[in-house]
Amino acid sequence: MSREVLERLEERLAANRLGGGQDKIERQHEQGKLTARERIEQFLDEGSFEEVDALVEHRCTDFGMGERTISGDGVVAGHGRVDGRPVFVFAQDFTVFGGSLSETNAAKICKVMDLAMKVGAPVVGLNDSGGARIQEGVASLAGYADIFLRNTLASGVVPQVSAIMGPCAGGAVYSPAITDFVFMVEHTSYMFVTGPEVIKTVTHEEVTKEKLGGAMTHNSVSGVAHFAAGTDTECLAAIRRLLSYLPSNNAEQPPLAATSDPLDREIAELDTFVPTDPNKPYDIKKVIRWAADDGDFFEVHEHFAKNIVVGFVRLGGRPVGVVANQPNHLAGVLDISSSIKGARFVRFCDAFNVPLWIVEDVPGFLPGTAQEWGGIIRNGAKLLYALAEATVPKVTVITRKAYGGAYCVMGSKHIRTDVNLAFPTAEIAVMGPQGAVNILYRSEIQRAEEPDAERARRVAEYQEKFANPFVAAEKGYVDEVILPRLLRRKLVAAFTLLQTKRDWMPSKKHGNIPL
Ligand code: HXC
Repeated sequence: MSREVLERLEERLAANRLGGGQDKIERQHEQGKLTARERIEQFLDEGSFEEVDALVEHRCTDFGMGERTISGDGVVAGHGRVDGRPVFVFAQDFTVFGGSLSETNAAKICKVMDLAMKVGAPVVGLNDSGGARIQEGVASLAGYADIFLRNTLASGVVPQVSAIMGPCAGGAVYSPAITDFVFMVEHTSYMFVTGPEVIKTVTHEEVTKEKLGGAMTHNSVSGVAHFAAGTDTECLAAIRRLLSYLPSNNAEQPPLAATSDPLDREIAELDTFVPTDPNKPYDIKKVIRWAADDGDFFEVHEHFAKNIVVGFVRLGGRPVGVVANQPNHLAGVLDISSSIKGARFVRFCDAFNVPLWIVEDVPGFLPGTAQEWGGIIRNGAKLLYALAEATVPKVTVITRKAYGGAYCVMGSKHIRTDVNLAFPTAEIAVMGPQGAVNILYRSEIQRAEEPDAERARRVAEYQEKFANPFVAAEKGYVDEVILPRLLRRKLVAAFTLLQTKRDWMPSKKHGNIPL
């Protein structure tokens, strides 16, 4: 082989590595962003990236595009390893035509998605794009739709993660929206279907890009994004951490990790941690961290619907998804947002064989016209449906309140939860004592000489009868009332026992979760 042939290849690859050129790379850096290639290098295990379609060019000739081709065409795609396991990745390259999506650029993304499905490995998309390549018209829109189809087909088969690391606007938002987890980088990323200019024209509202669709807006207000990262580097590290809890595909079990944390470690503080006063808040995340291997809890959707907490822990080295009411926020009540947040997480875990630990302290569903008119019935049903449908190992621990419909929803025995535990502080009843007494004894209280004393007496009587775990335990709805300090030991034992669990759904095309 002549040296010129080799040199020609090297030249072409060098041009590809330069993307849109040095000045565009510098502009990217000035904005606090890494380039597509730098992102991939930081994300994957060192030296593991294998690029595909580095030499692909667009085929558009309109608007003078025939003279403007850049090898790679605005997206860097391929595969590599994360903690030694295969992962497919594509990164839109803003230095090339603003990372805009062309027909060929979309075909590159589809190619890695197709291969990921055959291999059974996660797909991670790093988004930084001006949207559809305007010069290509409908060919670009077709490219988006090709990707949306693949996102949908891959859903529940391989984990899909999107990071928004720059603009992501118009219909382009719908690929990340279908994927399992969305990360956003603060101050450099935004997502919206229509931008501030269009909004101003149509509704006369004035809003900045950041307020409309910045990282914290989507993390805390809309719930579209699950994670906010301070920088590109932090974002990429967080995605690696997320993947460490997940199997590569739905036919695998989540990866085991070594732990030196004793499996029978007692948590002395927990015996007196949960306040017996039902109105006193406490932080459920402390309970989760105490029980978890090495106190490690990887929270998902941290800033959204804080009255429910979801995320991943390991128990005895085995990844477990946690869904917990948070008494520290709105008393841990279930509302529309927390039901949706919980349901989405539960369905992810169930699709990917991640067992579920449900931690319950819930006063019920949030009352009010805003909730009823917003569809708390339909939305609350999502969480119920998701937990009932889940066939992965399910363990519920009631720490305090388990009232009303929320008792049924939050992993009750009746929706085929495998192991149901309760702390001695658990209160399992149709409703809280005050509300119950007001309904049951309204006329007696009104007629009493001392209504307050009568109410207090009735409340005490109700509490004695129902505000405890024993009635449920007598019926077998709770398998065991445990000493709180034994929580970790009991959980590890339960999830170890359940690792070979098999359960089924009736044969069907798919269910009809109330959307
Ligand atoms: C072609 C594009 C482009 C696009 C940006 N560029 N967006 N080229 N198609 N969609 C090019 C610019 O011409 C410029 O080229 C380079 O990328 C960098 O863009 P700048 O505007 O200089 O960057 P910046 O100032 O940072 O602004 C970024 C931006 C802006 C806010 C994203 O570029 C922008 O508004 N772009 C258009 C966004 C848009 O309306 N897209 C279509 C949305 S509809 P040069 O050669 O000068 O460097 C859509 C439908 C999808 O996406 C539907 C799916 C179903």
